[in-house]
Amino acid sequence: MKEVLNYLERHQTRFWEELSEFVAIPSVSAQSEHREDMKRASDWLVRHCRQLGLTTEKHETPGNPVVVATTRQDGNAARPHYLVYGHYDVQPAEPFELWDADKQPFQPTVVGDSLYGRGTSDNKGQHFVHLKAIEAYLKTETPLPCDVTFLLEGEEEVGSEHLGDFLARERESLAAEGVVISDNGMPSLRHPALTYGLRGVAACEVKVHGPNRDLHSGIYGGAIDNPAMVLCQLLGSLRGPDGKVTVKGFYDDVRELTDYERQELARFPETDASLRRQLGVRQLFGELEYNSVEQRVARPTLEINGLTSGYQGEGSKTIIPAHASAKVTCRLVPDQKPRQVLQAVKRHLSGRCPRSAKIEFEAGHAGEAYLNSPESPSAEAALRALKRAFGHQPILMREGGSIPIVNDFKRVLNIDTLLLGLGLPDDNVHSPNEKVSLTALRKGMVMSAWLWQELGSL
Ligand code: BES
Ligand code: ZN
Repeated sequence: MKEVLNYLERHQTRFWEELSEFVAIPSVSAQSEHREDMKRASDWLVRHCRQLGLTTEKHETPGNPVVVATTRQDGNAARPHYLVYGHYDVQPAEPFELWDADKQPFQPTVVGDSLYGRGTSDNKGQHFVHLKAIEAYLKTETPLPCDVTFLLEGEEEVGSEHLGDFLARERESLAAEGVVISDNGMPSLRHPALTYGLRGVAACEVKVHGPNRDLHSGIYGGAIDNPAMVLCQLLGSLRGPDGKVTVKGFYDDVRELTDYERQELARFPETDASLRRQLGVRQLFGELEYNSVEQRVARPTLEINGLTSGYQGEGSKTIIPAHASAKVTCRLVPDQKPRQVLQAVKRHLSGRCPRSAKIEFEAGHAGEAYLNSPESPSAEAALRALKRAFGHQPILMREGGSIPIVNDFKRVLNIDTLLLGLGLPDDNVHSPNEKVSLTALRKGMVMSAWLWQELGSL
C-alpha cells in the first residue's frame, strides 16, 4: 500500500492537468448543440482508461455513450467485483455572466486549493479520484484485492434514460458485490461521510395557453385571460405558507425519520445560522416540525425550476402573452411513488385551470428515493476507509439530491450502493463558479485506495 499511496502523492500535478483537460470538454447533456462534445468526453475517457491499463469499451446507446472500463481479466474471476459509477455529462453553465471573470466554466483554473469549472465536482472530479486510485495500483503493480469496473455514463443530469436498459442487457458482465459512487457531498473536510439515502425526483412541465397570439394588453386586457397570471395562480396553489405541499395525497406514503436517524443527523455540523449566512437569506423556510437538515434530506418538496412567459428583453412590451410555462420537480422520500405523485400534481392543476385558458401537462423523468442500511459489512468497510484517509470519524447521513440509477442497480443487478461523496457545501454544483476542493480529491484518492483493501478483505 505504501507504494500506492506514494504514487498518488507523487503524481498530483499531472492529475490536476488531466482533470482540467477533461473538464474543458463542455459535455452538457441537456443541450443538443453539445452532442459532439458528449462524444468527445466519452472518447477522452476511453483513451484515459486504456492508458491506465483498463480493458475499455464504449457502448453506444440511443442517447450518449456509456464507457465501461475494467480491471477484470479472464483468469482472476475469483476476486470480489465492484462497480464504480460516475457521469461525464454536466449541467448547463448558463448564465455565463454570473461566473467570475477569472473562472470560466470550460477553462478550468486553480485558485488556492480549488479547481474551478463546470463538472469539477459534479461529477468529473469525483469519479476521476477512483480512476487515479486504480491507476496507482496498476502502475505500481500492487495486487488489487478486488476487481473494479467503471461504468461512466453521459445522461445523469437528464435522468439516465438509457442506462437502465443497458444494465439489463449487461446484467451478466456487470454482476458484482456492490456499487461505489462519489457523486454527492460531505459536510466538511473534517466530516467525511457515508451517505445511505438520497431523495428521489419527479419532473414535469406545465404549459398554459391563452389567445392564439400575443395581444396588445391595452386593447384586450380585462376581457381575455392572461396565461402567465393563470400559471402563477395555479403554481401558487401548490404550496401553503407553512411550507406544506397542498396537493391531495402528496404526503400519503412518506416514511418518517427514525429517532436514530434524527440523532445521527444532529451530528451534521451545519447550523441554520451558517446556512443563512452561506446563502444570503434573511430567514430559512419550511415545515416547522423539521430542522433544515431534516427538511433537505428526508422531507419531500415541490419546486419551480424554470418559469417562462411573455417579453423578457430590454424595456417594456405591453402584451398579454399567448403562452406561459413552468418546469417543476418534486423531491421524493421513501416510500413515495414518482408516477403517483405526478398524477396527483396533474390532477391538482387540471382541476383548477379556468375555462378561459388551456393547460397542458407533460410528465418528465422520475426516480424513487434510495435508502440503504448503514450497518452492512461493506458500509463498515467504507467507514474505515474514510476514517483512514480523512483522519476523522465519518458521519452517516442522507442527502437531498438524486441519483435515480441507484434504484436500478438494486432492481436489475440486486446490489447496494456505497455513496462516498467528496463534494463540499460551497462547491456550487449546478451554480455559477462550480469548483472542487483539491484536498477533498487528494484525500478521496487515498480513501479509494484503502476502500479496495477493506472491501477485498470482507
Ligand atoms: N450529483 C448530483 C446528485 C447529488 C447531489 C446527490 C448532491 C446528493 C447530493 C447529480 O449529478 C444530480 O444533480 N442529479 C440530478 C438528478 C436528476 C436530473 C434526475 C438531481 O439531483 O437534480
Ligand atoms: Zn448534478
